[in-house]
Amino acid sequence: MKLVIKYILIVSVLVPLFSLKADEFSDTIETIDIRKSAMQGLWIRVKRLSPYVELKENVEYNKDLASNDASEILKLLDKTRNLWPVNSNLSGKGFTNATPAVWALPEYFNKLYSDAELSATDLKQSIKNDDIDKTALAMCNLGKACGTCHASFRRLLTSQLANEVNGWSGKYIQNCN
Ligand code: HEC
Repeated sequence: MKLVIKYILIVSVLVPLFSLKADEFSDTIETIDIRKSAMQGLWIRVKRLSPYVELKENVEYNKDLASNDASEILKLLDKTRNLWPVNSNLSGKGFTNATPAVWALPEYFNKLYSDAELSATDLKQSIKNDDIDKTALAMCNLGKACGTCHASFRRLLTSQLANEVNGWSGKYIQNCN
């Protein structure tokens, strides 16, 4: 009888403990998913904006949409900035392509975030002002910030290489230095 009570006691303590751990883990995985989708969202907007910045004619994509995309880029950068909790340092287990360097070099990581945000702010403003040269410069700088961060902090999968050459890692328009 005593043994049964002991057993019940142990189980009643351990089960909630484990499920707490499991909850925490699924929260972490969700955070990783959200940051990946937000990054994809950034890429979609960059891709839409590039031809506009390069002055390629497209009747369906106008200044309003370009401004909106630039604002969304800024918002998404801001949104993802806090999505790097230490417990999401899980590249060893294959859950994320963010390398452990993110947590080893937080200052450099944050600096690249600030660079990207600054370029996105310039992009938004120069589109608003119809300043063609500044818009191109801002797009180049944005590409540099995204690309440098990926080169330093993101593990590149072979399956993503084709896409990567296509621009994820930095050169978003022609004529960037
Ligand atoms: C300060 C660093 C940093 C900046 C700035 C940054 N990224 Fe990322 N990005 C990462 C990291 C790290 C990952 C890997 C995330 C993961 O796997 O958890 C990533 C992943 C991605 C992915 C792949 C997402 C997936 O589905 O796995 C894309 C696409 C992407 N970024 C696009 C962009 C674009 C476009 C910009 C700029 C407008 C940008 N990123 C800015 C660090 C950054």
